[in-house]
Amino acid sequence: MKKRVTKAVFPIAGLGTRFLPATKSIPKEILTLVDRPLIQYAVDEARAAGIKEFIFVTSRGKSALEDYFDTAPILEASLRKKKKTDLLATLKETNMESGRIAYVRQNEALGLGHAVWCARRLIGDEPFAVILPDDVIAAEKPCLQQMVEAHEVTGGNILATMEVAPDKASSYGVLDVADDMGSVVSVKGMVEKPAPGTQPSNLAVIGRYILTPAIMRHLNKKSVGVGGEIQLTDAIATEIAANEGSVFGFRFAGHRFDCGSKAGFLQATVALALAREDLRDEFLPYVAAQVGGEMPAATRARAAS
Ligand code: G1P
Repeated sequence: MKKRVTKAVFPIAGLGTRFLPATKSIPKEILTLVDRPLIQYAVDEARAAGIKEFIFVTSRGKSALEDYFDTAPILEASLRKKKKTDLLATLKETNMESGRIAYVRQNEALGLGHAVWCARRLIGDEPFAVILPDDVIAAEKPCLQQMVEAHEVTGGNILATMEVAPDKASSYGVLDVADDMGSVVSVKGMVEKPAPGTQPSNLAVIGRYILTPAIMRHLNKKSVGVGGEIQLTDAIATEIAANEGSVFGFRFAGHRFDCGSKAGFLQATVALALAREDLRDEFLPYVAAQVGGEMPAATRARAAS
């Protein structure tokens, strides 16, 4: 019988330099889309997919995350006293039961593959998910849940994938497709950040993976790849070569926002705010006016200068 996927690794050791100065004193994962930190979206998606154990691979300066997922007794007592039951419920959703969340330090920035490898002892001999919280996915059915369902059929390794423009492929891990079956694609190779024009397809991998323990064994070799980093892509490519038919791409239904970039973060902010019933009526006229109407005087002046 196939083992259920109940553990997820969240590699969050990065410095978030693209968001300086904001990230000088707060972890990037605490940056907020509307009113929830980036990491909350990732954890909610994992919960919806049946994940029970959450492993955060962190680094120095990330301790705000530990407080965030802990209970906040003084705040809770104050809300209870003021009978603010809705806020209390919102707050309680962020509390993680002790033992369900673990923090592992990645003490050297050696790449995504190395970050995942840091969780090896907590993963053991089980399939596991990897979620990169920078990739926020708006979807009717949460992306990882779609992948878990696909995994129940295919087994093996499943990588979320989407089509990207040829000039963008060099920012991603890119699939070499063996057989395109629609939502599931069997894969015969994978290349991390291919040089422009050399990508084997236009299917890029984005930050959701379901992986077998074999991947951890390949990461044990600590082979250094593109950019001088230990790449998760290379471990997956090794598994494809060793075990034909064990890796699949999965075209998820939904929209991915690259919240590692400022433009992507802003797009996600606007999209998620417009999707919120409590904000839409107030926010939409403003957005519509910005897009279709007059430019504010200050913007006009700047554009003209
Ligand atoms: C990482 C992976 C890459 C993947 C991407 C998705 O790259 O190495 O294979 O396509 O995430 O967001 P990074 O964005 O960390 O450079």
